Amino acid sequence: MDKTEFIWLDGKLVKWEDAKVHVLSHALNYGTGVFEGIRVYETPKGPAVFRLKAHTKRLMDGCKVMGFDVVIDGKKFGYDEAFQAIKDTVKANKNVDYVKPCIFLAGEEVGLNPVGVKTSFAITGVHMGAYLGKGAEKGAKLIVSPWQRPDNLCAPAGAKVNGVYVTSTLAKRDAIEKGANEAVMLNSEGHVAECTGENIFIYRHGKILTPKTSNSILEGITRDSIIQVARDMGYTVEETDITRTELYTADEVWMTGTAAEISPVTVIDNREIGDGKPGKVAMAIKERFMDIVTGKVPEYADWIDYVN
Ligand SMILES: Cc1ncc(COP(=O)(O)O)c(C=O)c1O
Repeated sequence: MDKTEFIWLDGKLVKWEDAKVHVLSHALNYGTGVFEGIRVYETPKGPAVFRLKAHTKRLMDGCKVMGFDVVIDGKKFGYDEAFQAIKDTVKANKNVDYVKPCIFLAGEEVGLNPVGVKTSFAITGVHMGAYLGKGAEKGAKLIVSPWQRPDNLCAPAGAKVNGVYVTSTLAKRDAIEKGANEAVMLNSEGHVAECTGENIFIYRHGKILTPKTSNSILEGITRDSIIQVARDMGYTVEETDITRTELYTADEVWMTGTAAEISPVTVIDNREIGDGKPGKVAMAIKERFMDIVTGKVPEYADWIDYVN
């Protein structure tokens, strides 16, 4: 990740070095924040944010789930203001390909009670490049994690809540330490849920399958885009339960996420997936997706928000 010059913090652009919080902030101690990850692509009409409306909506929905009131300078800060602030952050910085807005409880507190604790809103743009590391685009290696994807009884699985990501970091550490790129987590019923920061798709018996939202997954915006694009390309896509056996024996497996984009998987738990090479279906969808995000496909123009 490369730093940028300015971070948007509570209504103002401040220098990267000056965007600070107190060590006793509630979010630092208890994980009380919601965040987003959003991609920015270069297009012939300048930088464009991909699916900014959907990301802003998910961020504000996360605040609703957590009970956060976002107030800046005495005024309620809602969807429209957040949408504009994200664009302003991209505009203020050079070479941004990833934006991370985060709304969190910044008030200094000892004790869990979140009621009445002040929120802060920070928006950071970075240059991320390839999220899964060099070479992963030629086929990522996965492990099935012993850590379970937190389900809807223990956490708001469908919202991007900071504290809930502790499990993802444990699973990710395990994957990296075992020489893999990513970990796939199962849910409390043993069905495939998702990876630490990506949704998962398989191609098996001529159909594209992905875990349904009731499997304790994050309702990924890339997942939603890929379901639509694949159907428009003529594939059958089903949202369903997927077992570990189906994962190992799929013809193709790929991950989708804002950071990871579309990443083919070639090995899971030392088993080759398909012929051990990135699959044809995944690569065809990826090619179409990259044209869409860079503004080359007019049918999907509504998914692109130009910064200038
Ligand atoms: C746990 C988890 N699953 C899936 C995804 C993919 O979601 P999206 O495509 O909206 O980035 C993410 C990334 O935000 C994630 O953190």
